[in-house]
Amino acid sequence: MGARVALVTGGTGGIGTAICQRLAALGHRVATNYRDEGRARAWQERMRADGIDVALAPGDVSSPEEAEAMVREVERQLGPVDILVNNAGITRDTTFHKMSALQWREVIDTNLNSVFNVTRPVIEGMRDRRWGRIIQISSINGQKGQYGQANYAAAKAGMHGFTISLAQENARFGITVNTVSPGYIATDMVMAVPEDVRNKIVAQIPTGRLGTPEEIAYAVAFFIPDEAGWITGANLAANGGQYMGW
Ligand code: CAA
Repeated sequence: MGARVALVTGGTGGIGTAICQRLAALGHRVATNYRDEGRARAWQERMRADGIDVALAPGDVSSPEEAEAMVREVERQLGPVDILVNNAGITRDTTFHKMSALQWREVIDTNLNSVFNVTRPVIEGMRDRRWGRIIQISSINGQKGQYGQANYAAAKAGMHGFTISLAQENARFGITVNTVSPGYIATDMVMAVPEDVRNKIVAQIPTGRLGTPEEIAYAVAFFIPDEAGWITGANLAANGGQYMGW
């Protein structure tokens, strides 16, 4: 398979960085978005030091206008987007009876509405070119729920509802749409969970450890080659055995 243009949202984060690295190693031209330019440029330099060139485009994925401008900027720098990884996400953990409207809205806007905002400007081009890969990074907690994450679990479950609808609408156009549902991965997001709570969670993982970002990047890459063209609407769990759905 030839080189493709891949847009990974939230590419400078823990899982996002590993996805950018893996897609670049597979020969694809990779871009990500940023909100903080200084931070993003420093990250880009670190990637360059490892021989990986990642294009940057400004934009907050929770804004439809910014997301569209971001996609157009990636197209300007690299060409039409063939592979979209909707990876950007945040947490605002708190039990629901204490949750503010802002904590609800920030998570739904960044984790779920973002999927509309970023996919909408790329889908028509993929349909015209008769090839595309769209991958949502959801979560184990969208599958099983999580104490303190009513907002996050709702958004993450919604991402897969989006996947299975888009998969049906676009299968005839050579576009596959799939979800990867990571379990607890050793990133800043998980390390922000209080240590005692985190230790109890790790004790529930059959592998006995947190996952690595590279293990998620591997699952993402699985969906990309032409040989994966028959796999659409799937939800691939990569969670160390913590939750085994059907
Ligand atoms: N099941 C049942 N009871 C629980 C519980 C659980 N899973 N977790 C906490 N409780 C209980 C506690 O035992 C405690 O009970 P008592 O008052 O009787 O002692 C009560 O609920 C309050 O718990 P906390 O003291 O923890 O309450 P808090 O308000 O300080 O914090 C919380 C609540 C923010 C939800 C905190 O427990 C927390 O951070 N939990 C982890 C949430 C989590 O897993 N987030 C994932 C982040 S990483 C991520 O999202 C990536 C991904 O996709 C996997």
